[in-house]
Amino acid sequence: MSEYAIELKNISKSYKDGDSVNTILSDICVKIKKGEFVAILGPSGSGKSTLLAIAGMLLSQNKGDIIIDGDNMTNKNQKEWTKIRRERIGFIFQNHQLLPYLTTEEQLKLVANMTSSKVNVNEEIEEFLKDLGIDDCRKKYPKQMSGGQKQRVAIARAFMNKPDIILADEPTASLDGARGRQIAQMIRQEVKKKNTAAIMVTHDERILDLVDTIYRLENGKLTKQEMKAVV
Ligand SMILES: Nc1ncnc2c1ncn2[C@@H]1O[C@H](COP(=O)(O)OP(=O)(O)O)[C@@H](O)[C@H]1O
Ligand SMILES: [Mg+2]
Repeated sequence: MSEYAIELKNISKSYKDGDSVNTILSDICVKIKKGEFVAILGPSGSGKSTLLAIAGMLLSQNKGDIIIDGDNMTNKNQKEWTKIRRERIGFIFQNHQLLPYLTTEEQLKLVANMTSSKVNVNEEIEEFLKDLGIDDCRKKYPKQMSGGQKQRVAIARAFMNKPDIILADEPTASLDGARGRQIAQMIRQEVKKKNTAAIMVTHDERILDLVDTIYRLENGKLTKQEMKAVV
């Protein structure tokens, strides 16, 4: 057990572009504590999605280590990564990515069934739906719900298996300002309640008061931004 949910150590990523090399991430180092809500800002194309995909082991880095709760991922095999992705990482994307032919309850049960952890699934689902204000969506299909409601289901799905870390790539981008803020608030609420770490990539400067730490990704480097004092 580590104080940190996830540590990225000297992560670098580049793509070959003809004869030249396009460096996207250059020696990125960051440590994120359990229960810490982090935002990553940066211009379009700066590598934010690439960094999240590497942190979630959906994409491999050229160099560097990913350490989840003190456990180095580098020396594990593909099969172990798949299991870790499923059980220890929750993903939230810009568009909910719910399955169109499943109800809310079924979406959540599907991910619950994929892990070996024995939680009381029905109770768990009920609690999430109540916490996120979508009790009435339990039997609904995605097409019967609003964008904000679908994104709340996606939050419940990401937190369902009690992951160590939540990775959210512009989760508020498809919503208007007020609904986007509610989604960030819900993520914060679950992060604090479950003591889960979360990294949220965002463009929305108006929700930054909801996070604990802000980083900026630019020219391949990740830098911590000093937080403005809350008045
Ligand atoms: N498979 C790939 N091959 C080459 N270049 C890529 C590939 N995937 C992403 N890139 C480049 O990496 C850069 C960062 O992309 P991305 O992580 O999506 O940025 P962001 O999420 O910050 O907008 C972009 O310039 C993009 O063109
Ligand atoms: Mg992106």
